[in-house]
Amino acid sequence: MNAQESVVLVETRGRVGIVTLNRPKQLNALNDALMDALGEALLAFDADDAIGAIVITGSDKAFAAGADIAAMADWSYMDVYRSDFITRNWETIRRVRKPVIAAVAGFAMGGGCELALACDIVVAAENAKFALPEIKLAMLPGAGGTQRLPRAIGKAKAMDMCLSARVLDAAEADRYGLVSRVVPNERLHDESIALAARIAGYSLPALMAIKESVNRAWESSLTEGIGFERRQLHARFASDDAHEGMHAFLEKREPEFRHR
Ligand code: CAA
Repeated sequence: MNAQESVVLVETRGRVGIVTLNRPKQLNALNDALMDALGEALLAFDADDAIGAIVITGSDKAFAAGADIAAMADWSYMDVYRSDFITRNWETIRRVRKPVIAAVAGFAMGGGCELALACDIVVAAENAKFALPEIKLAMLPGAGGTQRLPRAIGKAKAMDMCLSARVLDAAEADRYGLVSRVVPNERLHDESIALAARIAGYSLPALMAIKESVNRAWESSLTEGIGFERRQLHARFASDDAHEGMHAFLEKREPEFRHR
């Protein structure tokens, strides 16, 4: 398969792994081939010691316009139930322990918005547009949208987006906390990779522990989350990098992390 035909393009930049969704004619509509390939690329980067952070991006016009409606239109309940639609490949991203950044330009609609929400950090270009328009199809946001969106932006805004198909521009998405930061369109690629490179320069086990702890905040009570965080903090004292980081600070030099 050549680059034109590959539904995802994979490259590395130093310690950053980059996955580009590549179905431009369909605005990166997310079909099985794409979600399988994305999952495979993410797991490969996660297993690669030379990679510290991952960027998922799309085209200038579309991060992704949602699940592939052409593929889904004639599926039956039994088709999706038996094959475990969504869970079978879309949720691979939940197994990734390294930080994942969504670099979003243009449309992030339906499953595309949900994919961004499943990433750890969302960097949006000024032209980004976020929506969960499944209601227009008499469907529902079923790749985590009804669960992650209210956690990200609160119930009122999430209900508005899910029930009315309201589209948020990048500035609104930033204001509501759906995205982490907004950058000029032409800076999206460079800024997202620079952010990923900065993160990837830190100690990998510390990054993994932070990601796990912040994710725990979504999924547990405060008391449980605090307990989890405290054990993660204590575990830092078993890491070479934490001692190196603290000694480097005291010695006024740059730390040399070995990701141990
Ligand atoms: N699935 C399949 N094909 C899609 C698609 C999708 N989600 N989104 C766009 N395309 C295709 C279009 O059919 C069109 O193909 P043709 O050129 O062959 O006609 C091509 O991409 C370009 O799209 P448009 O001509 O519509 O482009 P536009 O700039 O006029 O509009 C848009 C862009 C507003 C994003 C519009 O394409 C759109 O509304 N797309 C659908 C968005 C949507 O409903 N997403 C939710 C899908 S359901 C889901 O995601 C369920 C879930 O939770 C898992």
